[in-house]
Amino acid sequence: MSEFIDLLNSIEREALSAIEKAADKNSLENASNAFLGRKGRLAELSRQLGTLDNESRPKAGARLNEIRKRLSDLAETRALQLAGSEKTFSGIDHTLPGRRSFVGRRHPLLQTVDLIVSIFRGMGFAVAAGPDIETDFYNFDALNTPEDHPSRDLSDTFYVEKGILLRTHTSPVQIRTMQSQKPPVRIIAPGRCYRSDAPDASHSPVFYQCEGLYVDERVTFGDLKGVIISFARELFGPDMNVRFRPHFFPFTEPSAEYDFSCVLCGGKGCRVCKYSGWLEISGAGMVDPEVFKAVGYDPEKYTGYAFGMGVDRITMLRFSIGDIRLLYDNDVRFLRQF
Ligand code: DAH
Repeated sequence: MSEFIDLLNSIEREALSAIEKAADKNSLENASNAFLGRKGRLAELSRQLGTLDNESRPKAGARLNEIRKRLSDLAETRALQLAGSEKTFSGIDHTLPGRRSFVGRRHPLLQTVDLIVSIFRGMGFAVAAGPDIETDFYNFDALNTPEDHPSRDLSDTFYVEKGILLRTHTSPVQIRTMQSQKPPVRIIAPGRCYRSDAPDASHSPVFYQCEGLYVDERVTFGDLKGVIISFARELFGPDMNVRFRPHFFPFTEPSAEYDFSCVLCGGKGCRVCKYSGWLEISGAGMVDPEVFKAVGYDPEKYTGYAFGMGVDRITMLRFSIGDIRLLYDNDVRFLRQF
């Protein structure tokens, strides 16, 4: 009897050390099979229990079960340890913080263009476009601008070569649109414009405008005022007021400049509106009959209004931006804020 127990004890020691020493999954499996498997050492001993006398057999059986339990617990723990150490050696540190991904966004100027477009779309306007590089016919002549007008000067306009220039406003899109379709015409045309201005807080040699044009029979200045006021209120809220002041543009008659009530002080007067209560937006007017003649429209039959607007100015007011150059520097620290 004690011989059998001695045998069990020595096999237990052997098995414990084999399992303990297993350095990978394979050798652990081999060790477990050798002792715990169906044809392993413990199975063999369990068959020998039958040769023991009635008194010793239960004791030896209990001891055998105890050993089996201890060995399988240890094998399980060792398997977990090995799996854990494999993770560490795979070179992945699960405690490192994740990598931040930067999401691109639309430039604030184009966000404003999108907003302007959606407001005018809601009022039935289509979107038109023209080239940035224009001829002096589209940029000046067809818009009834005299040969000696100061805006044609080299000091105001970027010329590519004689007669070819970077458009100084979006108004040439009016001409291209009227040349290509018959009235009624109802379009807006957002886009880049260029002028030979020295950059400062309120000037940039490249800037954005949005043109508007509506031509049909019996279009009036009252229609123009209505559309600009609706636009201002959709853009900046129902308390907005709009004021028209007489002005001159070669391509409209009569012409006006229009102002929005100050978005900051609501018209009371503040630093942004220079204590006038008003913010200058751009010009507008009734399309000059000379412009209709240039595109082959009958000025006796049709009337129309046109307007421009400064997209940079509106963007700066929407987002409280104090310097137009920020819109063109493309510093990501600035752009990430929108
Ligand atoms: N093109 C003018 C500018 O750049 C703005 C403008 C004024 C556009 C009157 C118009 C208009 O369509 O009717 O200052």
